[in-house]
Amino acid sequence: MTLWRALRKRRALHSETIMQMPLRPIQIRNLRLNPPLLMAPMAGLTHSAFRQICLGFGGVGLLSTEMLSTKRLPSENPTISPYLIRTASEKPLSYQLLIASAEDVAQSVEILHRLGADAIDLNMGCPAPTVGKFGAGAMLMEQPAGVRRMVAEARKLTQLPLTAKIRLGTELDEQKLKSFCTMLQDEGIDMLSVHARLTRESFARRPRWESIARIKEWLRIPVIANGGIFSVQDARDCLGASGADGLMLGRGAVIRPWLFAEIAHDLYGTQIPEPVVSLPELYGNFIDLLNGLFRPERRLGRLKEFTHYFARNYKFGHRLAFRVQSSDSVDEATERAAVFFEKNR
Ligand SMILES: Cc1cc2nc3c(=O)[nH]c(=O)nc-3n(C[C@H](O)[C@H](O)[C@H](O)COP(=O)(O)O)c2cc1C
Repeated sequence: MTLWRALRKRRALHSETIMQMPLRPIQIRNLRLNPPLLMAPMAGLTHSAFRQICLGFGGVGLLSTEMLSTKRLPSENPTISPYLIRTASEKPLSYQLLIASAEDVAQSVEILHRLGADAIDLNMGCPAPTVGKFGAGAMLMEQPAGVRRMVAEARKLTQLPLTAKIRLGTELDEQKLKSFCTMLQDEGIDMLSVHARLTRESFARRPRWESIARIKEWLRIPVIANGGIFSVQDARDCLGASGADGLMLGRGAVIRPWLFAEIAHDLYGTQIPEPVVSLPELYGNFIDLLNGLFRPERRLGRLKEFTHYFARNYKFGHRLAFRVQSSDSVDEATERAAVFFEKNR
């Protein structure tokens, strides 16, 4: 067979696979994820203002907090903490714990019950050395015995959906990965999200969506694919390569907060209006939300973080990002952004 014919055959098989994919909601315990599109937890980004912006477009099956350190959680005041502030509309909302040991489970779970969490996610994928130093994040995949105790303890203490988010491990080792994932399932994890990269792989690398297909073969619980989804076509390709039960969107949704709505509409047939987007208006709404929700000293950093990604909607977006990065106040950033929008209609 010529290479060309082989490629054509592969492409045909590929689209057949997509057509047969089970595009349906996920039910985990009492929680229905419809559509099965999840917000990725992202430090400095997935706070109440961003969640509300995404909700405005629709299509998000499960919202998320950023990672919450179990050491700091007890001293956070939920009415003023930028990590915990939320509105009643932000549902269902998963809270992600950055946790290192079974001893920290009880207090954190009790707090999350009080806060009205709809699901609890355990961070087992963060590669940051500062996090690893405390034995949390991706380091957990190197300590399966400790993780088993942690998950068992959490399972004993909550009836909420309990989920975990992992990367693929420090190296490609299928036996190790399989044994870790099945251990999570056996101890009562209800759903697993997989960022399809090895621990030390950078975001610039192509995600290994096909590795998620292997994990799907091993598990009965729903598996969510994460990494590198920036468009409806990426979502389609990722589902085709991974056979995942749902998708988790991170940076793609920060650049384009209407991406959930587009994917929900195009791939899951969700009945929502086609997103009508005005970038300056969206940006203005985001600033209004920051101003309404957070104390002044908490606003600017979050605006800069968001702008870093959002600016990619513009050909000369690096200029917007630079002007906001170098602003000393939200007011200054707002004025500079207005000038940019005026010149880049
Ligand atoms: C700024 C930033 C902060 C992040 N913070 C977290 C976090 O708090 N918890 C977590 O599990 N992953 C975190 N991640 C990883 C994302 O959840 C996600 O796995 C990763 O960005 C790949 O998905 P994407 O290509 O859709 O962005 C973060 C990523 C970014 C870019």
